[in-house]
Amino acid sequence: MSKKNKNIAYVSVFFSLICLISCSNSASDTVSSDNEISSDSLHNHFKGLFRMGAAINEQTILGFDKQSKEIVTTEFNSITPENSLKWMYLQPEPNQFDFSVADKYVQLGLQNNMYIVGHALVWHSQLADFMQNIQSSTEMNAHVQNHVNTVVSRYKGKINAWDVVNEAFNEDGTLRTSVFYNQMGEDYIDQVFQWAAKADPDADLIYNDYNVYKPSKRAGILRLVEKLKSNGTKISGVGVQAHWDLNSPSLQEIEQIILDISSVGVPVSFTELDISVLPSPWELVGAEVSQNFSELEGDPTMNPYPNGLPDAIQNQLAKRYEDIFKLFIKHKDKISRVTFWGVMDKHSWLNDWPIKGRTNYPLLFDRNYQPKKAYQSVIHATTTD
Ligand code: XIL
Repeated sequence: MSKKNKNIAYVSVFFSLICLISCSNSASDTVSSDNEISSDSLHNHFKGLFRMGAAINEQTILGFDKQSKEIVTTEFNSITPENSLKWMYLQPEPNQFDFSVADKYVQLGLQNNMYIVGHALVWHSQLADFMQNIQSSTEMNAHVQNHVNTVVSRYKGKINAWDVVNEAFNEDGTLRTSVFYNQMGEDYIDQVFQWAAKADPDADLIYNDYNVYKPSKRAGILRLVEKLKSNGTKISGVGVQAHWDLNSPSLQEIEQIILDISSVGVPVSFTELDISVLPSPWELVGAEVSQNFSELEGDPTMNPYPNGLPDAIQNQLAKRYEDIFKLFIKHKDKISRVTFWGVMDKHSWLNDWPIKGRTNYPLLFDRNYQPKKAYQSVIHATTTD
């Protein structure tokens, strides 16, 4: 071999080595053969696309569940409190506020530089008992204004987004006759958004609901967004809860949600994503928390996987997540955040709702805090067209 050819050979071996190193790095960054935690965090894979969040429970907030806290702070860049900021916990008695857990929640988000969500200011569920017995509209107005003002002001400049009103619509797109509607009248949502905007003009203000894939319900929500905008009331986005299952809603239905919300000029956040793999006790998927099916508790046909998820279903779940995330990525310009409703299967609310005592598998991490195939498939969605 001539000296010149020898040099070329050295150079090409050098570059092959560089390529080998970088190719193997990029492969392990995207999909690993077993379900290892990615060498890069979940939210980093979605950099430039949208935020990736998780709802966290009190055990995680207070640091009792260290493994969960570790996963949340490394894998996600946004948090939502699963229960800790709901009215019944924040203001259980008139004007008696308890911010002990809420303060720790906000502190956790600030320490980790996360996009912090407040959930939820005005909601008919998990409301304080005293609110059910308010007799006059003046009194109701005063309590709601006080709650919104006190809570939003306390976390001004810290909580980045509020689910201002949660689940205000019936399935047909009319307003639910909640205690708020009954006492404050049909403009109560506009009023609550104005109070929230006054208390923190910089916070993102979200209207949040389930079954948004249903055209009639969605139409009501779209009318609300247009009404608030034409009144000059700030609304920053629509939150779509996304408690879905393996087959429903269809990808077309999900795409229509994104297109329709975007058409009224606000971004979409998928605020409570989880995918149930269990049989649904009613034909329609939804998330009205007051429903329960106690007569089905203990029925083995409603709880088919108590000892582990068969591979076929595990794969189906992973494929469903990948399809959904490919669709989200296609519409990245219309989506600001995707938040999972929980971290690990073990703590998912879907083990107890709508039937108590089942074993569900709706999230990205299994009962031993290990990433599932679905975790890999969500990351994989970012690498394909
Ligand atoms: C659920 C929590 O996950 C449960 O722990 C609690 O018992 C009931 O509420 N829609 C919402 C969430 O907006 O606040 C609900 O969270 C799930 C449905």
